[in-house]
Amino acid sequence: MRPSVFFYVTYVLCLCLGLLCLLFVSCWRSHWRGGFSWDGTAQQFNWHPVLMVSGLLVLYGNAVVVYRVPFTWKQKKHTWKLVHAGLMLLALLLSVLGLCAVFDFHRGVHIPDLYSLHSWVGICTVVMFTFQLVLGLAGFLLPCSPLWFRSTLKPVHIWMGKAILILSLTSCISGINENLLLTLNGTNGEPYNSLPMEAKFANSLGILIVAFGLFVFGILSINKWQRPETDRENVHLLLTEDST
Ligand code: HEM
Repeated sequence: MRPSVFFYVTYVLCLCLGLLCLLFVSCWRSHWRGGFSWDGTAQQFNWHPVLMVSGLLVLYGNAVVVYRVPFTWKQKKHTWKLVHAGLMLLALLLSVLGLCAVFDFHRGVHIPDLYSLHSWVGICTVVMFTFQLVLGLAGFLLPCSPLWFRSTLKPVHIWMGKAILILSLTSCISGINENLLLTLNGTNGEPYNSLPMEAKFANSLGILIVAFGLFVFGILSINKWQRPETDRENVHLLLTEDST
């Protein structure tokens, strides 16, 4: 199979997994947990998983692989930098809204904030993501950013990008698990360990999330799928090395 065909097959599977994650999380919260509203009740909490999975997982995961799509290689890198940054900004916006949903809900029903392992990992993920976005915008999009800063930032940016994805996957899995334990064991219905339909469905969402993450990491790990550096970009790199 030609490398680009292999890429597109993997990429389409990755897109499908992302869409399935969105479908599953929305169905879970609307079918079993009463749907959505913004009034400080449990229906407001329901926005939290949906917005976090959409923003910090699916949109973020797609934004990190955007440079790998072969048809973008013939176009200007700057255009795709803007697409990458735009998707990241949208992902941050959805995540902040998702956090507002849960903090507001906690305030409404007098639940303390930031007590669980999930919330600690989650808040670190969002803080790190914000930091990464500010540094990335300043370093790679501001025309006045010095070359030494860009070249120092690049490996850190790549490392942080992967770290955020791992943290985001961890947050989603721990959030699903915590929510199932809290809701199913705290009511008179069937407990979690009797594996009611809701638990089967939400566990499957967890598996889809992990599969999506593995596909994104798979795409990132294949060197042949990296955007080839053009001559101009190479000159830029040489200049950068000379200046350090
Ligand atoms: C990237 C994904 C996620 C991040 C960054 C994240 C982050 C957070 C944070 C920071 C809190 C604390 C809010 C507070 O203390 O008031 C929280 C609460 C909560 N989240 Fe998430 N979350 C994510 C995904 C999910 C998912 C998919 C679920 C599944 C239902 C979930 C379930 C919960 C629950 C039940 C709480 C309330 C209990 C607690 O504070 O631990 N989260 N989340």
